[in-house]
Parts: sequence; C-alpha cells; structure tokens
Amino acid sequence: MKKLAIYTVALALCGSALYTAFAADQPTDPAKVAAAAAEPAKEKEPLVCFEGRKGATEITQRDLKPGWPNVKCSPTTSAALWYGDPYEGTVPMGKMPQLENLPEGHAVVRPRSEKLNLLAMCGTACHNGVGPKANPPTLPKDKKPIPIPTMEAMYPDSKDFQHGRGRIWCLDCHHTTQRNKLVDHFGDPISFDQPQLLCGKCHGDKLRDWRDGIHGKRIGDFTTGGKKRWFVCTECHNPHNVQDGARNRGFAQLQPEPSPQLPRGMKDAKHEKVHPIPH
Ligand code: HEC
Ligand code: HEC
Ligand code: HEC
Repeated sequence: MKKLAIYTVALALCGSALYTAFAADQPTDPAKVAAAAAEPAKEKEPLVCFEGRKGATEITQRDLKPGWPNVKCSPTTSAALWYGDPYEGTVPMGKMPQLENLPEGHAVVRPRSEKLNLLAMCGTACHNGVGPKANPPTLPKDKKPIPIPTMEAMYPDSKDFQHGRGRIWCLDCHHTTQRNKLVDHFGDPISFDQPQLLCGKCHGDKLRDWRDGIHGKRIGDFTTGGKKRWFVCTECHNPHNVQDGARNRGFAQLQPEPSPQLPRGMKDAKHEKVHPIPH
C-alpha cells in the first residue's frame, strides 16, 4: 500500500512517460519478481475471492493461524471453496418465522449492509424527504416507475431493470421513507441483512425451501441444532438483474472443480464423514 502511494506521487510528478516505462518494466523484471517473492508474507497483496456473487460478496484471505487460512479460493474462478472459520464476520440471523426454535445465535448470517457502498447516503443525502420540491418529488406517492436520470447514472441497474418482467419496481422492495431499509407487505421496514423476508413476500416457495435447507447454502456445524451460517438470498442473486441476458436464470453458473488441498496440519478430511444421525 505504501509503495502504491509512492508510485502515485511519482506518477503525479513525472507524468505518463514514467508510468509507461514502469508498467512495461514491472511484470518481467526478474530482480523485482525475486524481491517481491522474498518479501515477508504480510507485505503480499491480499488474496480476494468471492462467495456467492462476484463483485458483491468479496472476502479477503488471511491466516487464522499459520498455514490455516480463513478461506481457500479457487485459482481458476476465485470462488471461495473452503472455510477455516465458517462463522467469520457473522451476526445472528434475526427473527424468522418457523425458525423460532433454533437455539439463540445458532443461525447466523454475514450482514449485507456492510457491502453496500451507497446505503449510507440513500436515506440521508438523497431521499431524505426534505430536499427541494423537485419533479419528481423526493418521496413519491405511488410505486409507479419514474425514470430518474441521476439515479440511472449512479446506478445503471435502474435503467434496464431486470426483475419481474416489468411488473415490479423499486418501491415494491425499497421502503418509501426509509431508503436504508427494504419493505414488507405491511409497509414496515426490513433490514438489508434479512433479504429473505423481502424475497419471501413474492417467492414463498423458495423461502420455504431455503428455510428447510433445500435451496441456497449453509455451512458450519451439521449436528442437529448446531450453529450454521446461512447464505442469504442476495449473496447469490442480484435483486436488480435476476433475468439479465446471458445470466438469465438468476445465477451466474460456475464450472465444477476438484476440491482444494487440505490446509497444512490437517491430515485427511475424515471430519466430513462424521454423520450426526446414524443410518
Ligand atoms: C426485487 C426487489 C428490488 C427491487 C425491485 C429494487 N431493488 Fe434495489 N435493492 C434490493 C436489495 C435486496 C438490495 C440489496 C442488495 C445486496 O444486498 O446486495 C438493493 C440495493 C439497492 C441499492 C444499494 C446498492 C449499493 O451498492 O449500495 C440501490 C441504490 C438500489 N437498490 C436502488 C434501486 C432502484 C433505483 C430500483 C428501481 C429501479 C431498485 N433498487 C429496485 C432490492 C430491490
Ligand atoms: C414484489 C414481488 C417480488 C419480490 C419482493 C421479489 N421478487 Fe423475484 N420475481 C418476481 C417476479 C414477478 C418475477 C418474474 C417471474 C417471471 O415472470 O418469470 C421474479 C423473478 C425472480 C427470479 C428469476 C426466476 C426465473 O426463473 O427467471 C429470481 C432468481 C428472483 N426473482 C429472485 C428474487 C430474490 C432473490 C428476491 C429478494 C431480493 C426477490 N426475487 C424479490 C417478484 C418478486
Ligand atoms: C447459495 C446460493 C443461493 C442462495 C443463498 C439462494 N439461491 Fe435462489 N437460486 C440459486 C441457484 C443456483 C438457482 C438456480 C439457478 C438456475 O436455475 O440457473 C436459484 C434459483 C432461484 C429462483 C428461480 C427458480 C426457478 O424456478 O427458476 C428463485 C426465484 C430463487 N432462487 C429465489 C431465492 C430466494 C428467495 C432466496 C432466499 C430465501 C434464494 N434464492 C437463495 C442459488 C441461491
């Protein structure tokens, strides 16, 4: 990072000629390659891979203990393949109908809100309801589509919205007056960290399957009542383009790959064969 800052300064001072020279020189120069390899591990560029959805679920690899990474990533797709700590960065899922009997804190999720860069501004800077009485007004009276050029520029998804085949629009999902919240059928706010409550209001069958562990993904302790991380709907589906062109069916498909190498210190994968319910 420090290095990057120095280069940026050099760039600013010396202009693009230096940049061209540097860019051409960097990947091939054997001295530099060797120097980079010899650098202590902490100086290396961190490896970033993704979980369900590229560009929206990135996770940075780090060692939990020497040789034991938090996550292993596919060298071909950079998808997360193995977890050293399945609960890293998780919080309790929150109230979910039909899951009330799970022991407290045994159903956890990774919060979505910390991944959403615009969220902090949505309800404060832009849709705070006190802005100039522009046309269209800041807080609309109905849910009908209104093309807003500023929004489209900031958020191109809204220009070519691909969910519901023209039958749903922003405020079917986003809260009218609290733009940092989603909305349920009663008009009450839902946290971005509980998208299942939003998606479930129209995709009840998928919600039920997800709740039963048939749809989606869970990782962690597979004994009965054991603590599990549940992947939420938006970790796999982009709510704004589930019907987008080549991706069409709502999910970017990945090529199957062989399992990753076991971390150092783990002799075999026997733990995966232990089944809590004998049969
Ligand atoms: C089907 C429900 C749904 C509809 C319809 C919808 N959104 Fe969203 N939107 C979401 C969800 C869920 C998220 C959070 C996504 C995530 O966790 O990755 C989100 C996130 C956002 C964000 C925050 C993105 C960020 O990176 O911080 C903006 C801005 C946004 N939506 C604008 C819109 C606009 C504008 C429309 C209408 C053109 C719209 N949305 C329609 C469900 C919807
Ligand atoms: C207000 C109702 C509504 C909400 C809320 C909603 N959807 Fe949808 N969704 C629809 C409709 C309508 C379709 C279009 C079905 C069709 O015509 O094929 C659709 C289609 C989809 C598809 C594509 C299905 C296919 O076979 O092409 C996916 C995936 C999907 N939704 C996921 C989600 C997720 C994830 C959420 C929550 C972030 C969500 N939806 C929230 C109404 C909704
Ligand atoms: C771990 C990833 C993952 C999670 C989490 C997930 N889904 Fe899906 N979903 C998928 C995949 C994969 C498909 C199949 C896509 C395909 O057919 O190509 C799918 C398909 C769908 C479809 C379309 C089904 C159809 O008949 O074509 C809907 C709707 C949907 N999911 C809704 C949801 C909702 C709602 C949630 C949360 C309650 C959810 N998904 C959670 C991965 C996920």
